Amino acid sequence: MKGVVLAGGTGSRLNPCTKITNKHLLPVYNKPMIYYPLFSLRKAGLNNILIVSGKGHSGDFLELLGSGSRLGMKISYEVQEKPGGIAEALGLAENFVNKEKIVVILGDNIIEDDISDAVENFESMPSGAKIFLKSVKNPECYGVAEIEDDKIKSIVEKPKNPKTNLAVVGCYMYDPKVFDIIKNLSPSERNELEITDVNNFYLKNGELKFEMLKGFWGDCGESFDSLLESSKLVKNSHLASL
Ligand code: DAU
Repeated sequence: MKGVVLAGGTGSRLNPCTKITNKHLLPVYNKPMIYYPLFSLRKAGLNNILIVSGKGHSGDFLELLGSGSRLGMKISYEVQEKPGGIAEALGLAENFVNKEKIVVILGDNIIEDDISDAVENFESMPSGAKIFLKSVKNPECYGVAEIEDDKIKSIVEKPKNPKTNLAVVGCYMYDPKVFDIIKNLSPSERNELEITDVNNFYLKNGELKFEMLKGFWGDCGESFDSLLESSKLVKNSHLASL
């Protein structure tokens, strides 16, 4: 299986820190933000990684990470011309993925758990998709899942009145048909191809599994508070010494 880290987008919620650099290069405690999703993939045995980044700062990622050999990984790069959404960015990985299954992590997500078992379990599934959920205080800022009889009933992107506090974490596992699903998506109200629409497609097909995260999860791009909180959590966890 291959890994994809999505690091495009504008990072507007962290302005002015993102005025002259990319959000995923900002520090989270003692490392640039993007190191954490890369290390989550490496820990799960995925060393062949594609980073999709926006046009303005793609050279900075190359400068920082190079071929990936220093981190024990092989890193390739793809450029997203405009921030057209998470699903659009993922669509750019089709050639790299070359009909394998994939694990995708958003470049601003920090996951304390070791996801190896979940990845291994997904690898043994014949097809479909798998996501992670985490109980949060501010579900309205995320994709939110409703669960019934231990199955996902619906996922709504940033609902005004969330039905649960179960946020969809920015780490997704997909079979290769994800690229056909993305090609058939329509842009949302905010004019983006939404990853929640991809997940809802699998859900309608009865092919969406989930696991709960146990450790902390940080979406560092959500606000300055979440960036600060993530730094503190990293400082007090094994992630600080990676
Ligand atoms: O963090 C988890 C949440 O991430 C999920 O709960 C939501 O369902 C999902 O839509 C997403 O919400 P965000 O509002 O946090 O997404 P954001 O626009 O901040 O983008 C997250 C990452 O995706 C960002 O760090 C880089 C990548 N991205 C985003 C866009 C819009 C791209 O690579 N290209 C893009 O065009």
